[in-house]
Amino acid sequence: MKFKSITGTKDILPPESSKWHLVEEKLRSIFEAYNYSEIRTPLFEETALFARGIGQNTDIVGKEMYTFQDKGGDSLTLRPEMTASVIRSFIQHNIGNDSPLSKFYYIGPVFRQERPQAGRFRQFHQFGIEALGSQHPSIDAEIISVAVDVYNAFEVLDYELKINSIGCPVCRTSYKEILKSELMKVIDRLTAESQKRVELNPLRVLDSKDERDREATQNAPLLLNYLCQECSDHFEKVKNFLDELEVKYTVDGRIVRGLDYYTKTAFEVITKSLGSQDALAGGGRYDLLTEELGGKPTFGIGFASGMERLMLMLEKSENKIFSEPTKSVFIVSVDDFSRPKSLKFANMLRRDGISADMDFNSRSVKAQFREANRKNARIVIVVSKDDYDRGELTLKNMTTGEQAIVKITALTEEINKI
Ligand code: HAM
Repeated sequence: MKFKSITGTKDILPPESSKWHLVEEKLRSIFEAYNYSEIRTPLFEETALFARGIGQNTDIVGKEMYTFQDKGGDSLTLRPEMTASVIRSFIQHNIGNDSPLSKFYYIGPVFRQERPQAGRFRQFHQFGIEALGSQHPSIDAEIISVAVDVYNAFEVLDYELKINSIGCPVCRTSYKEILKSELMKVIDRLTAESQKRVELNPLRVLDSKDERDREATQNAPLLLNYLCQECSDHFEKVKNFLDELEVKYTVDGRIVRGLDYYTKTAFEVITKSLGSQDALAGGGRYDLLTEELGGKPTFGIGFASGMERLMLMLEKSENKIFSEPTKSVFIVSVDDFSRPKSLKFANMLRRDGISADMDFNSRSVKAQFREANRKNARIVIVVSKDDYDRGELTLKNMTTGEQAIVKITALTEEINKI
């Protein structure tokens, strides 16, 4: 019997896994430059954390969570996103007591039972940031600018930033009633999915991608025009900060987001390059979430991006971070005498911080060179008895094709010069 990976999951194999390392490394350096520190939370949590945090009437909680009962009878769920887990951890460890503003970043797998298609997986990876403790619009602008900085840093320019304000319970409650009554007038023209939403989650009808819904709701009222004074002022200031930072955005009153915890600022980074899975990143403010999950009232805002979608964008753009060659060495042994010496040199280089590999199958010199090419080695060292007896080795620069005899004692030094 042959086992296969589960539908919607995938193996990240070499050399792709090396690309993931490079991308993750760059992400960490961007987040750390903004003074965000890494938080790592468990892959599973109590089901109720997500049900409460994300909202019962969302697609994620309603039909996409991997929920199971463990042997003790507890209902557990593989995390479908990171924000709820970060808040749980923030509350549990009283992190808010240590500093007025806590800044976290994360990179890791999340799980949603969605219909798999290009750019949509059941186990995928999110990277993102959360800032807890400030209601000031400057932090909204910082979060949004980190999101776009990521794509700029990777030279992914084919994206658009859309921002919106989805208000607070004060303005949203009265607006929902107005929206519902307008949607009732066109309910026959809506898709079955949107018809179901009119009662429970009418705002989501507005961000439906279906043409029928789009057409039927063309003239629907937008929350942006019904914001209370506080939400409206906040949104104006966020825009001013973004202008100051020269971050380009469009205001889109239909950005609603698929998670219930948002208040005020909501935003998405979308692209036209990935077909129907056009969302690269999404985020927003969630000022009521910490209290909802049992903590002290704490303002919060953040975003998360899909790692696989970023990788797809990078594949298209042949990004140059992947073409920078690493200084890897392959050691070719000419005869049986050389093999133990090669292993000794490999270990010596590894201890000097240079990646080194060799043949472990007694293959011919030609086959060893082929292997070196396959492994993209930049440098090949050839070890033979004659050279060794003279205290020397042959060093070949695989990029230029140049070859030189070097002293064994100066090996690391010579490699570092390349
Ligand atoms: P989200 O919009 O549900 O937000 O997901 C964020 C990103 O994850 C999406 O923009 C997309 O790139 C990626 N993504 C979502 N589903 C899939 C999938 N099935 N396959 C591949 N990629 C996917 C959140 O999760 C919020 N926690 C974001 C946030 C953080 N809000 C505030 N802080």
